[in-house]
Amino acid sequence: MAITTVVFDAYGTLYDIQSVTSVTDQAFPGHGDMITQIWRMKQLEYTWLRSLMRRYEDFEAVTRQSLVYTLRILGLRYEEVLFEKIMDKYVHLDPYPDTLPTLEQLQGRTLAILSNGAPSMLNTLVRNTGLDRLLDKTISVDVKRTFKPSPDAYGLIETELGADPSEVLFVSSNPWDAIGAKAVGLTVAWIERVTPEAMAIACENSAIVPPLTMFKAMRTQMDELGLEPDHRIRGLSALVGLLPPVAKS
Ligand code: LAC
Repeated sequence: MAITTVVFDAYGTLYDIQSVTSVTDQAFPGHGDMITQIWRMKQLEYTWLRSLMRRYEDFEAVTRQSLVYTLRILGLRYEEVLFEKIMDKYVHLDPYPDTLPTLEQLQGRTLAILSNGAPSMLNTLVRNTGLDRLLDKTISVDVKRTFKPSPDAYGLIETELGADPSEVLFVSSNPWDAIGAKAVGLTVAWIERVTPEAMAIACENSAIVPPLTMFKAMRTQMDELGLEPDHRIRGLSALVGLLPPVAKS
């Protein structure tokens, strides 16, 4: 079956989550990397914990709570205005260099985001970065009051886009997300931004592992959950070769 619809994860896939380091390091010089990595790891952890506990709060709340946690455990004091300045980066994240060119080249298919992001933060980000011109729809898991990788979240692709799952390619660089989409039977392209070879080199000879390396080890390598993505690609631009141009019906 031909792929008519490409659905992307947002944070870490179209948008570089590491780009928050510019503001975290400016706010707390010398602590930027540590804040960035703990914040993202806790943010994801909180989505999973809240889903399991059935205590849903949206991704904006989870993002705030994980930042409060991070600054607290690092013993960093701050004024509210500084906290808001860091949070504001979430609506101005940097798209990866190949995000816009790839979305432009894939025009002709239905292109959408399926993200854990709360609707307002997600729509503002998409608008601020000009991706609204290139995407047909931005879908938030919020209506389901649970987070990916819950099957309910991926079910929104069918209900919100009216797409037959066999015609959908789901694209994520988050291994847990790629596996979550595979678990409901979607065709998945996983973006392996950090190769196993690069990972091994980053870890070798390091008595002190920098926070970013620890993050990469935890969140960028394929998991041992008994499922494999259909495609492993190195960047978004590889999708263009995977999906030849089509005329939109
Ligand atoms: C997303 C994050 C969690 O759903 O990667 O966009």
